[in-house]
Amino acid sequence: MEYIDVPYTACFKETVAALDEPGCLLVTQGNEGYLNAMVIGWGTIGAIWNKAIFIVMVRPSRFTYQLLEEGSAFTVCVPAPDMRPIIDVCGSKSGRSHDKFRELNLSTVPSTQISVPGIAGSSVIYECQPVHFNDLQPEALTAQIQERFYPQGDFHRVYFGEILAVRALAGQAQQT
Ligand SMILES: Cc1cc2nc3c(=O)[nH]c(=O)nc-3n(C[C@H](O)[C@H](O)[C@H](O)COP(=O)(O)O)c2cc1C
Repeated sequence: MEYIDVPYTACFKETVAALDEPGCLLVTQGNEGYLNAMVIGWGTIGAIWNKAIFIVMVRPSRFTYQLLEEGSAFTVCVPAPDMRPIIDVCGSKSGRSHDKFRELNLSTVPSTQISVPGIAGSSVIYECQPVHFNDLQPEALTAQIQERFYPQGDFHRVYFGEILAVRALAGQAQQT
């Protein structure tokens, strides 16, 4: 499986479409080396502070939140069509009680710029180093968004990851 480096804008369309459906995989790692993957549906890519940035939103109730708070870097993996069963598990089971990498027999792709790997078979892998986070301010959200998405008050923490590399499965990178 060969991956090639591509510009951070090369796979934008495909990545946003995957966030919408079926979701992308956010991979983090504990200090002891334990790997975890969760599905994210909300996020975006842009240019901030003269850097390429991947913004992801993680609720405090996620195990992933704990790993990010411990200082983990992260990869965002755009799933290939045959990875649907992986999405189903990683979007419903928590790494607190499930070793998803072991249960799903996931293989990894070493990253080039961070210690956290990607998931082998993903069509695109973003290697990200957190440079900032911010908590949603309930009073700054519309009542409609608050009622619809935060009835339990589990407001997302927004992580800004500097994109240090983007790797695409050879032959799949699309220019936008
Ligand atoms: C399609 C889809 C999109 C999701 N998007 C997010 C998201 O953007 N942020 C979030 O905190 N949880 C999101 N989730 C929920 C987590 O993936 C889910 O709670 C997961 O089991 C958390 O895993 P963890 O506890 O191992 O971190 C999404 C779930 C699905 C199925």
